[in-house]
Amino acid sequence: MKEIKDLSREEAMAELAELAQKIAAADNAYYQNDAPDLTDAEYDALKHRNTAIEARFPDLVRADSPSKRVGAAVQSKFNKIEHRFPMLSLGDVFAIAEVDDFVMSVKRFLNLSGDIDFMAEPKIDGLSFAARYENGVFVSGATRGDGVVGEDITANLKTLPQLPLKLPDGVPEVLEVRGEVYMAKRDFLALNERNAAEKKKLFANPRNAAAGSLRQLNPQITAERKLSLWAYTWGEVSARQWDTQAEFFEKLAEWGFPVNPLNKVCHTLSEIEDNFKHIMEIRAELPYDIDGVVYKVNSLELQNRLGFLTRTPRWAIAHKFPAEQALTRINNIRIQVGRTGALTPVADLEPVNVGGVLVSHATLHNEDEIKRKDIRIGDMAVVQRAGDVIPQVVEVKLDKRPADSVPFEFPCVCPECGAHAIREEDEAIRRCTGGLTCPAQAKERIKHFVSKEAFDIIGLGDKVVEAFYDDGIIKHPADIFTLEERNGGAGDDLFAFGDNGLHLERRAGWGKLSVDNLFKAINARRTVSLPRFIYALGIPQVGSATALLLAQNYGTFDALQNDMTARETAKLVSIDGIGGEMGNDIVEFFNEQHNINEINALRKYIKVEDYIDERRTDSILSGKTVVFTGTLELMTRAEAKALAQKFGAKVAGSVSARTDYVVVGADAGSKAQKAAELGIKTLSEAEFIAMTADAG
Ligand code: IVH
Repeated sequence: MKEIKDLSREEAMAELAELAQKIAAADNAYYQNDAPDLTDAEYDALKHRNTAIEARFPDLVRADSPSKRVGAAVQSKFNKIEHRFPMLSLGDVFAIAEVDDFVMSVKRFLNLSGDIDFMAEPKIDGLSFAARYENGVFVSGATRGDGVVGEDITANLKTLPQLPLKLPDGVPEVLEVRGEVYMAKRDFLALNERNAAEKKKLFANPRNAAAGSLRQLNPQITAERKLSLWAYTWGEVSARQWDTQAEFFEKLAEWGFPVNPLNKVCHTLSEIEDNFKHIMEIRAELPYDIDGVVYKVNSLELQNRLGFLTRTPRWAIAHKFPAEQALTRINNIRIQVGRTGALTPVADLEPVNVGGVLVSHATLHNEDEIKRKDIRIGDMAVVQRAGDVIPQVVEVKLDKRPADSVPFEFPCVCPECGAHAIREEDEAIRRCTGGLTCPAQAKERIKHFVSKEAFDIIGLGDKVVEAFYDDGIIKHPADIFTLEERNGGAGDDLFAFGDNGLHLERRAGWGKLSVDNLFKAINARRTVSLPRFIYALGIPQVGSATALLLAQNYGTFDALQNDMTARETAKLVSIDGIGGEMGNDIVEFFNEQHNINEINALRKYIKVEDYIDERRTDSILSGKTVVFTGTLELMTRAEAKALAQKFGAKVAGSVSARTDYVVVGADAGSKAQKAAELGIKTLSEAEFIAMTADAG
């Protein structure tokens, strides 16, 4: 074999192609058939040669280079299973005072003053599963996935000895049991020991090991790994046979599912507190990892009244153990510039292991935070990871501060474009005034535009957006939609007359195939839903939930834009969830010339669909505006509002000609009178509840 330094360009190109193909074949054999056709040493040698050639000829790195793939092929091959009921997540709290707030808010919502029973369950640090039974027989299993669609792991779940495959007579015809698959600490250590001996990959923690073992294309591998499970909730059920979470656990145990013996009904807040302390004390001795305690309202009747927020139930919460911390040095403080020009300080850290994860950056939030904690370059800092949140600096150790240390000075100009960075009165954040002339802001805005919840254009990752921006290929979101046109004719016809196209296929790392795929991905997005479009615009403070609210309330982009351009805000501010400041930001956004230009340019190339609110079609309350007045006696205000919204109604604070119904409680005053004057239908509480019963 030729030495790398002696390879010509052509030879290097040919060999990289061959290596890509060989390594892919080896990956395939390993992951899909569990029959590696190369020894580890042979495989490593191929990878090593590939990397070395790429290092010498960086512009020849292929789009399908093995150096760019990290086992992605394994995951994409599972079939998808759509959950009949979404698999939700839980809100997190850390302090007992926040648990107290949660309990209070539950009581307030329900208008109950006495104690409510909560089921307290250890929060298992594994991955959740859903197992479906039809007529008592296990038929399919899925991972959580994004909560809506999971991966089909039926064959893998079947290999778990604790999962019953047949249930006793009398279970509901359709029954979906959900819970957590985990790897016991002992089994995790043994697996890693074995892998170390065989020079295989080590897992960082039991959770990763469980995930890696369950999501195996070859269920044989799952079977060889020791996985365990706890069952704790349900999805679809044809006929529910229990009225409390505690009764459900009894059923689960009867049916043969493992139910955690530490699950416990707590009657008072002090019992909740004692239980939490107890679990924390025994945590280290438990044979499996837990990361907190989950509290669920025990009564299902109350759970149903409480209902759900967007992604989490109102009737449950996770009380997490304090975050894990580590001590490390701050090597540098960098200023990042975000999409709206916000300057965010970031600490570059001496990499440190925090609870099993290597941390090398931490957010410092803003300039006041740096001042308050007197954080300086060179300091030793306590770094903390809390759940999935970005690592934070808790404090710096003054006794370890170098003698020559100086306070950090926050810049007053944008480090990216040099424009003034100003801080409005009573704002914590300093912002670059460069607008879209600031390359950092322009790039972030494009990245946001193509991101998953916005246009979701695969192939335009962060690196590509940056490179295309720097090379003048995409300066504005609208440029994305003229790429194909500007690219020029077939890439290989170098002598085409007048051809001054971009020819992306000639760029390093790109080829005809990857460019075609990019164009396909872009063309698939020439029609876009209204909520995605609104979100993609990057209006300050408008996340995907607010974008959805705007779409639901305006229905079409024109309706929204017309109101905003005319600074007509009556409808905007009547939307529950849009406050005055956010409203201002939205109006300002639509009145700024460069945004108007951007919107006009985009709409030349794409079609924004009108929003059809599904909830509106099948409920008598849908699309109606309801006002509540007076003292409600059958339900609390919050409950009434949630109920109205559940059936597609909007809840307004005051009566106007647009109001459809006024629900009148005891001692109602001027609003009831106004309703009478305007001839608006009034309802008693009971009538309103009856209406929702009809609506459902
Ligand atoms: S209940 C709607 N109970 O925590 C409630 N979840 O943050 C759905 N988890 O995705 C979950 N132990 O993976 C519930 N005893 C327990 C749990 C538990 C662990 C996990 C689960 C879920 C996540 C929610």
